Amino acid sequence: MTPALPPLEHYAALAAERMTDLASRYAASAAGSGHTARWNEERYQEIRLAPRVGVDVTSVDPSVRLLGRRLPHPVLLAPTGCHRLFHPEGELASVRGAGEAGALFVVSSYTTTPTADIAAAARGPWWFQLNPAPDAGFVANVLDEAVARGAEALVVTLDTPVAGMRSGQGWDGVSLPDGLEFGVLRDLPAGLAPPADPEVIHRSALDAGLTWDRLAGLCAERELPVLVKGVLRGDDAERAVAAGAAGIIVSNHGGRNLDTLPATVDALPRVVERVAGRVPVLVDGGVRSGGDVLKALALGANAVLLGRPYLWGLAAEGAEGVRRVVTRLRVELEMAMALCGVRTTDEITDDVLWT
Ligand code: FNR
Repeated sequence: MTPALPPLEHYAALAAERMTDLASRYAASAAGSGHTARWNEERYQEIRLAPRVGVDVTSVDPSVRLLGRRLPHPVLLAPTGCHRLFHPEGELASVRGAGEAGALFVVSSYTTTPTADIAAAARGPWWFQLNPAPDAGFVANVLDEAVARGAEALVVTLDTPVAGMRSGQGWDGVSLPDGLEFGVLRDLPAGLAPPADPEVIHRSALDAGLTWDRLAGLCAERELPVLVKGVLRGDDAERAVAAGAAGIIVSNHGGRNLDTLPATVDALPRVVERVAGRVPVLVDGGVRSGGDVLKALALGANAVLLGRPYLWGLAAEGAEGVRRVVTRLRVELEMAMALCGVRTTDEITDDVLWT
């Protein structure tokens, strides 16, 4: 019998049975030989915990405050594209599952559902992620639409000026099967067709000319907080804060863009140190357990984002699978907190790490 909150491996296995070959390869693909994607997970397992016993943990509260909002726990859903490849209800199932699990949902630019429909199905806060396209008018329309529909923040992905060479994907990432279309990028005036010449590295939907000055413009133009996703270096974190970013997401894109980038949990402390509390720092990549969430928070993250694991839940059981994957991690986090002798997320410091 399936337990009420199965482990993530259960969903990985179930998803593998239910996903089409295309969806499987899209979710799993990583840059190069997949070192970075593996390190993201492995490095969490190399960090040891130092539990404090004899503490009254009759009450454990995993909630966090983020950009002025109290969230029931620090597990957010990272922007990932093409949810209709994983389940017929696509992003609608994801955003419902997120809402039921109390997880903030980040809508990807590569959504296969229009932003308006996701907004209508949302039962909790959501942010919109932008892969800036070279077309300023198009980008302005996309952002205006997201803001009008209720996005509470914008996430600008800066780590993908060009696509990486992804092993195993065997798909251009934009030619969807019959019956599916992109909910936002379908309106890109230049179209999405990959260049006929395989030696051309640039793509119509990715702005290779995006600099910190332009990001500063984006931050200044909008009332909404703008988070920068894809920062690994302390000096880039400083540039993000100087440009007006309201938050930083330490990310290597799940190891999908450039192989041999460091694990994000190794990059996190440098960014945290440089930012010194001026804006929240989030991290994604390789988070696979409540213990991993605890470790990320102990290293200074304000919250984490999940990528592949919720796609397994989505592929396996739609909204309910997403809800159960997130809930499993939240329950594991509460257990890890109690077992380490911490009652609130504010009490999670590097004191819980075995150094
Ligand atoms: C992604 N990611 C991503 N990031 C982004 O900024 N925009 C996007 O459209 C996508 N699309 C996407 C699709 C798929 C299938 C995956 C697996 C990932 C990266 C994502 O936001 C996040 O950084 C990583 O997925 C986190 O790593 P884990 O949790 O998958 O290890």
